[in-house]
Amino acid sequence: MDYIEIEESPDLQGSIKISGAKNAALPILALTILAKNETCIKNLPNVKDIKTFLKLLDLLGSSHREDTASDCFYVDTSKINSTTATYDIVKTMRASILVLGPLLARFGECRVSLPGGCAIGQRPVGLHLKALEQMGAEIDIESGYIHAKAPNGLKGKVIVFDKITVTGSENIIMAAALAQGTTKIVNVAKEPEVVQLCEILQQSGVEIKDIGSDEIEIVGTGGELLDFDPISVIPDRIEAGTYLCAAAITNSRLTLEAVNPGHLEAVIQKLEEMGFGIEQGDTTITLLPAKKIKPVDIVTTEYPGFPTDMQAQFMALATQAEGASVIQERLFENRLMHVSELQRLGASIKLKGNTATINGPTELHGAEVMATDLRASSALVLAGLIAKGKTQVHRIYHLDRGYEQLEAKLSNIGVKIVRGKE
Ligand code: EPZ
Repeated sequence: MDYIEIEESPDLQGSIKISGAKNAALPILALTILAKNETCIKNLPNVKDIKTFLKLLDLLGSSHREDTASDCFYVDTSKINSTTATYDIVKTMRASILVLGPLLARFGECRVSLPGGCAIGQRPVGLHLKALEQMGAEIDIESGYIHAKAPNGLKGKVIVFDKITVTGSENIIMAAALAQGTTKIVNVAKEPEVVQLCEILQQSGVEIKDIGSDEIEIVGTGGELLDFDPISVIPDRIEAGTYLCAAAITNSRLTLEAVNPGHLEAVIQKLEEMGFGIEQGDTTITLLPAKKIKPVDIVTTEYPGFPTDMQAQFMALATQAEGASVIQERLFENRLMHVSELQRLGASIKLKGNTATINGPTELHGAEVMATDLRASSALVLAGLIAKGKTQVHRIYHLDRGYEQLEAKLSNIGVKIVRGKE
């Protein structure tokens, strides 16, 4: 297993180019199941979760190839000959559930292993299943597998999600695109990755109303497969937010390139509240140092609110604010495992239920710490930037799932970072 060692690196400078968004690329790969021909995807991030999803598609019978001349990563799902997503793969990546809607819509039957528990919470998929049942699917849980059948195709319906779910919305949007008739989805997620999925479908000729609102309507093709123009994955707003926090925790000036500032409004607002300056261009954001880092109050919520995927990084940052910050995690019941690791570095954090109170500023000291999930891992790397001495972050396979070239990007801006083997 690999670990990362970071030496205190208080002065960052320069710029970082942001990669394509993992959480936008995963549903786009699932969407290719609805394609007639091979699909060109650009700006696909080279991270472990994407490789895992491609492996899943390959196991179903699809193929892929890279064409450097056109900058396209082509996925061809025309020869899919299996509709079973097995436990071995689903257990390594919960986002595998994204094949459920498209496989069912295209083939009328599929078996997808139920994703098990997860480090950040229970993460049920009941809402995905309920919505598909409303669209006419018969669903049985057999030996740990979701067995879904819709031999006569899915039917457009009004789906009201009890709770906003990102991958749940994506699954139903993809299913609705091939269903018969109109599906109205109420309380649909509005994350940029959901919006991009709808826009791609719209460009391919699917009629979709009110994209980006919390009620959308999709007119299905009645089973006819789609043809997609080349797709360019949107920039990763969470990777961007993480590097903004790297600049903030070291109180340095840093520019992000190839980013969409419009996707980061809640994050930018919190950084401004903490006293940092922000300069925005069309595709750039520059963070300017604060005279004094002020404490902040954060409640995680669905987009356009403050993202749960940025909660851990802001907790690391709050250790350097002058005063008490309060961070409440509202989406996942167990997404505060980084608290005890940050405490090992010297952070003063009190945890009550899902609310952490962070007293700052505290001097952090390098230690060995353990990554528990993707974003918790990045928070430990951020803390390592300012901790005296050296910080070793173990189990960094979590980081490799979602941050492309993390060490190279950080060392380019002046971070002393190396990867080692246990
Ligand atoms: C997506 O997960 C992201 N994953 C997560 O990214 C992100 O943290 C999360 O949305 C919230 O923004 C991908 O996009 C691949 P949800 P998802 O369904 O779709 C409850 C990262 O680090 N719920 O929106 O699985 C659920 O328990 C990560 O990149 C139900 O109760 O999350 C949670 O409380 C990890 N029943 C809430 O909804 C259901 O059937 C939101 O979860 C489904 C969800």
